[in-house]
Amino acid sequence: MSQQPDKYTPRSILITGAAGFIASHVTNRLIRNYPDYRIVALDKLDYCSSLKNLIPARSSPNFKFVKGDIASADLVNHLLVAEDIDTIMHFAAQTHVDNSFGNSFEFTNNNIYGTHVLLEACKVTRQIYRFIHVSTDEVYGETDVYADVGNHEASQLLPTNPYSATKAGAEMLVMAYRQSYGLPTITTRGNNVYGPNQFPEKLIPKLILLAMRGQPLPIHGDGSNVRSYLYCEDVAEAFEMILHHGALGHVYNIVIKFVENRPFNDKRYFLDDQKLKNLGWQETTQWEEGLKRTIDWYTKNPDWWGDVSGALIPHPRMTTTGLGCDDACLAEFLSTASLTSEGEKEGLKFLIYGRTGWIGGLLGELCNKGGIHFEYGRGRLEDRKAIAEDIRRVKPTHVFNAAGVTGRPNVDWCESHKPETIRANVVGTLTLADVCKGNELLMINFATGCIFEYDKEHPEGSGIGFKEEDKPNFIGSFYSKTKAMVEELLREYDNVCTPPSPDAYLI
Ligand SMILES: NC(=O)c1ccc[n+]([C@@H]2O[C@H](COP(=O)([O-])OP(=O)(O)OC[C@H]3O[C@@H](n4cnc5c(N)ncnc54)[C@H](O)[C@@H]3O)[C@@H](O)[C@H]2O)c1
Repeated sequence: MSQQPDKYTPRSILITGAAGFIASHVTNRLIRNYPDYRIVALDKLDYCSSLKNLIPARSSPNFKFVKGDIASADLVNHLLVAEDIDTIMHFAAQTHVDNSFGNSFEFTNNNIYGTHVLLEACKVTRQIYRFIHVSTDEVYGETDVYADVGNHEASQLLPTNPYSATKAGAEMLVMAYRQSYGLPTITTRGNNVYGPNQFPEKLIPKLILLAMRGQPLPIHGDGSNVRSYLYCEDVAEAFEMILHHGALGHVYNIVIKFVENRPFNDKRYFLDDQKLKNLGWQETTQWEEGLKRTIDWYTKNPDWWGDVSGALIPHPRMTTTGLGCDDACLAEFLSTASLTSEGEKEGLKFLIYGRTGWIGGLLGELCNKGGIHFEYGRGRLEDRKAIAEDIRRVKPTHVFNAAGVTGRPNVDWCESHKPETIRANVVGTLTLADVCKGNELLMINFATGCIFEYDKEHPEGSGIGFKEEDKPNFIGSFYSKTKAMVEELLREYDNVCTPPSPDAYLI
């Protein structure tokens, strides 16, 4: 019998890792079923993701894609506020166990630190009513070979590899933020999932693609391991159910039906899913049917990720570059997305600083898409002669400054690297402004919102925001000090325009 708590209705959902396997099915499903929900899909487009996974959602007016990293606190904070997010479904993670034996720091950075950034942003912005944290059955470790009941949600977490350890670590943070700050969290722990859109380093798509190539099919171990698999659409339905009816503070196992007479002397992950069943969810796709659909899909889409031969070897160690969504794919996605470039392009020539940065890179992509000629600056901002040379060479109509020190991996870095921070953020920016003025050029300077904090005139929750002409009042970090200082000094330059903090790139 189902015991559903009252229905929760989200308004604006941030889905992290949305261009990956499971989250793309969840995103497409929610977009299809709930035109009133706004969905913001955030993904850094790692090697295992594809924007093609989101094709069914991309032209819906209630859908936005944002390319970005959950580990970027500036981006995440900005998105929560600017997109008025009230719900987070957090799928983004490094997910391939084999890779975690190689570069496990990537797993710590993305799975633990990334989750921490999200949680902290929820704490600071105080506008999240539901945070669904997607974990895995692997956090339980291997089930005792003699166990004949599955792990229930309160079972001990005993991860056995770096991947599951980072997933368990992220869960601990989620739990702590719930206890310490009352964050409205729900955690899910799922079985293995299979179906279309899954990157072929994972077992089922790998076996299908190898079989299609007539190659041998490698299985880890001696073949006695038992794993449960759920079809992706059933899992997406489970997330739909948990989103609307999951009880806050609870953990839900998402698991295939218990099969009687399983050989119980096999190595396995074995879960109890009664809680989720109580909400009314049940797996509906039989293994044979799900497998048939998956094989059909891979047969029709053998080149979904381009050349994946590197992922088909028995123990692939994919790097975070080299595969994934290429520029052509991104451009194709952008060309049908709602961001259009309007206005006169003839005669425009942009000189952009900050090529390796996030905003600088995006500006280049937007120029490409909008047919605007541009070049990246070669000189360092604090090098007056080099900037003058750039201007002579490029002959720009506009100069964009998206260069600056923002900290590696976050603004705390600036506290211990003050000379570098001043050189780039203050001296560099002012030098560029000055050289542009001398050449009668308009300079667009990308600033930050991190120079303001609530005060008497702008109390928290009042809805009264800071205007462009307001004086910076937050100098709590060295980073914000330099940005506030340079913004003041830039007022002396009438050729400089500072748009409001464009911390995110929205489609
Ligand atoms: N696939 C399974 O069988 C399975 C089972 C149980 C739980 N899970 C969990 O479900 C979630 C999704 O798994 P999946 O199989 O769809 O994974 P996936 O590898 O297909 O997708 C992960 C996505 O996250 C993105 N990503 C990674 N790090 C990011 C970051 N720092 N910022 C922004 N985006 C980032 C990647 O680009 C990718 O699109 C994961 O949290 C995983 O641990 C998966």
